[in-house]
Amino acid sequence: MKQTSILLAALLSFAAFSAQASVSNAETMIMIYSKQAKQANPDYTGPTVADGKAFFNRKIKLGKGKETACASCHTANPANSGKHIVTGKAIKPLSPAVNPKRFADFEKVEAKFTQHCNDIIGSDCTAAEKASYITYLLTEQTPSIKK
Ligand code: HEC
Repeated sequence: MKQTSILLAALLSFAAFSAQASVSNAETMIMIYSKQAKQANPDYTGPTVADGKAFFNRKIKLGKGKETACASCHTANPANSGKHIVTGKAIKPLSPAVNPKRFADFEKVEAKFTQHCNDIIGSDCTAAEKASYITYLLTEQTPSIKK
């Protein structure tokens, strides 16, 4: 855990809002989550874009609710603006390359993961899922034209 706090300190020193800073913050978060995943499972081989993409688009039905995926609100392209499926409110793009305010604050990211994963999956996401998810987000840098 000690090393995690060193990483966190490094992370917080990147607080400036620029796309470059948020991309390097996101990369630091991938390192933190990968380390946690490795601690949970020594056979863990690291995050992949494919796992992150599958996780993001995976539709889950909870109880009597509708099938929902992360993509339901954040759209299938995380470089696009999303739309909240319940409130209809616009959501700024998740991709840190497009939206420099994303992945700026580790506490906020943790809180959102816990909240959204519980809402969508019914439990918190694993560190491995979070690492792959952010790895995937970093590859999505080009907003597509909205229909
Ligand atoms: C019901 C709509 C909805 C769904 C479904 C949803 N989200 Fe979100 N998400 C939001 C909104 C709204 C925000 C923006 C909050 C803000 O801008 O501060 C957000 C922001 C986030 C952030 C914050 C990033 C940052 O640094 O600002 C993360 C991480 C996140 N979502 C992950 C997920 C994951 C993982 C899933 C799927 C398990 C998911 N979300 C599904 C609505 C949703």
